[in-house]
Parts: sequence; C-alpha cells; structure tokens
Amino acid sequence: MKVFRYKKELNNQVSELKNQKKSIGFVPTMGALHQGHLALVRQALKDNDVCIVSIFVNPIQFDNPDDLKKYPRTFEDDLALLANLSPEIIVFYPDAHDFYDGNIQSSHFDFDGLEKEMEGKHRPGHFDGVGTVVKKLFEIVRPDKAYFGEKDFQQLQIIKKLVEKTRMSIEIIPVPIFREADGLAMSSRNRRLTKHHRAAAPFIYQVLKQSRVLFEKENFDTVINFVKNAIGAHPYLELEYFEIADEKTLKSAKEKKSGNKYRGFIVVYAGAIRLIDNISLVES
Ligand code: PAF
Repeated sequence: MKVFRYKKELNNQVSELKNQKKSIGFVPTMGALHQGHLALVRQALKDNDVCIVSIFVNPIQFDNPDDLKKYPRTFEDDLALLANLSPEIIVFYPDAHDFYDGNIQSSHFDFDGLEKEMEGKHRPGHFDGVGTVVKKLFEIVRPDKAYFGEKDFQQLQIIKKLVEKTRMSIEIIPVPIFREADGLAMSSRNRRLTKHHRAAAPFIYQVLKQSRVLFEKENFDTVINFVKNAIGAHPYLELEYFEIADEKTLKSAKEKKSGNKYRGFIVVYAGAIRLIDNISLVES
C-alpha cells in the first residue's frame, strides 16, 4: 500500500495518474476509521480508477483543545482496514508542518452565510479550519470526485459551496449516514463514550425518527419542543441544539414553504462527548 507523508511526493504521484488519464476519487478523513468511512471508500473505489484517502487530524478545525488532544488516533488500524478493502488505495498521511508550510493557520471563508448557521454558531472558526484543509487537500489530490458523509450535512453543503466559489472541477458526492445496528450514527468519537453513555446514545436517533413522524402533521414549534423535552428528560443526554432548517440555506425555518426541503439537525452531549446527527424531514 502506498502511503505518502509529504505534499511533493503525493503531487508527483497524482501527476503520474493524470498523465495515465486515471480518474481519482478522494475520501478526506481524520482517521479512526469506521464503517461509515469505509462506505465512502467503497463508493470511491467503485466510481473511479484510483482512490486516495487522506488521514489527518486537522488541528485548526478544533475549537476545543481537549477534543483535539483526545481525538482518537489509530493509524495502524486505519491502514489495515483500508488494505483489507483494496491494497491499491493510496493513503495521504500528511505531516502538519509540511502540509501547512510551517504556517498552521486558517484562512477566512465566505460561504454565503452557510458557515454562520448551527455548527458555525457553536464552534467558532470550525468551518474556516475545514475550508482551509479541504481546499489545500483538493489542490494537492486534484480529484475528479470527492466523497463526504451526510452526517456532517452542514460541512457537506459548505464543501459544495467551496467548490462552486473556487471553480474547482470536482464533483462532490454525498453518502448517506451509516448507523450502528441500534441507530447511533457512526462517528470516530463514539469509541470515547462510556458504557452508560453508549447505551443512551441511540435514543437520539429514536427521537429524530419520532420528530419526522410529528413533522408530517404538526407545526415546527411542536416538533422542536417535543425533541427538547424528550432529550431534556433523559438522564444521560444533554441537548445543545435541535433546529429544523432548510436543506439549501441551512437557515432555521419556522414554517413549511412549498418546494423546500427540511432537515432536523441535532447536537447532544453524552457525557463529555459531543454527538451530531440529522434527519431528512418530509418534503412539503
Ligand atoms: O469530516 C471530517 O472528517 C473532516 O472535517 C474533514 C473533511 C476530513 C476535514 O478535516
């Protein structure tokens, strides 16, 4: 399996692939790979001649230093999982200093307001950090298609906007949320849950599914209050926010407008672990 640590080396490899007219599918990750990541990689392998996976815990997208410190790093296991899917996968495991040319800092982005909603309010600077790393990765990897999970739906919309604004010719492919058998959305952070919090966490998706049923006949406030009360009453979970927002603008919505699509977006603390999830609500 080819593993590249330095931009220049990967760049040479990509140039070679481009000369051979190979299509490149790209899956950017922060490692601690799980079945959700592997679903993205499987899709990329299917759609393209070559699949490149990056593994990089990007320091500048963490608004919480403790979260960055404790973010799981499991490089050897990640490599084994990827090799098991295909030994042809190319891995980019950047050295932070080389990647950022010694200047580990975010650029500022205007994503037409998408960055100001939900996670943008709760995690200041997060989307500047994501925009900075993904733009750089795209410039180095030069993929034809790049794959992002719908679990981070706001991130997905922001990456689409990044590509549109920078006019990169990359197709962004969304991949549905991959869930554990009990409904918990897969996340690298799940492995840090305590036993009690892991047992409590599937309740989030149960509540989201109930909110979808309510959304068919009730007004937005009723649905929002239902979620707030349900999570609020749970002894092991603490709601940070639940919003019903328009899928395109990500703006919080208060009533249905014909032709618009809505999603419920939720963030819940299970002990010290911040869990994020969302659900598509019925089209009006
Ligand atoms: O979703 C993630 O894992 C990260 O935000 C990404 C896209 C790899 C950028 O660091």
